[in-house]
Amino acid sequence: MDRRTFLKAATMGTLVMGISKGAFALDTNYLVKVDPTLFAAINRVKDPANKTPLEMTHAPFITAPAEVKAGEPFAVSVSVGEKGHPMSQAHWIEYIELSIGNEPAGRADFQSKGYLQPKVTFSVMLTKESAPSGVATLVAHQRCNLHGYWEGSVNVKVV
Ligand SMILES: [Fe+2]
Repeated sequence: MDRRTFLKAATMGTLVMGISKGAFALDTNYLVKVDPTLFAAINRVKDPANKTPLEMTHAPFITAPAEVKAGEPFAVSVSVGEKGHPMSQAHWIEYIELSIGNEPAGRADFQSKGYLQPKVTFSVMLTKESAPSGVATLVAHQRCNLHGYWEGSVNVKVV
């Protein structure tokens, strides 16, 4: 490798490293003051016996039968928090999703105007194949514009 080729390659390598380092080192700037850790991971209730005020108002609260018959539809209700969550243009729930284990089943999107309460009832039908062990885990997710991503889950016995 001659000197000119070496310098050209070294300069390009430095540029690429500088660009990629800058891209990974980019700080996220939020429009309003929020706790950035709430947006860095999926939030869950840490101690169900001692929920924090944030957990009480943000963890998806799932209402479903403890046992269902395979092939028969049943209702699964998901609300945001046990105490409910406000819906205003400044603070609102963007969506509620329901999955069967890792498989997405459905989703409801909300607008920020506050016309809808963040509560959804899904009609679910499980098969024996969807619960090979005899138990299916219903997993709900929601996203709050100020308090990040939250997950809740319940197990349902499938007979
Ligand atoms: Fe919130």
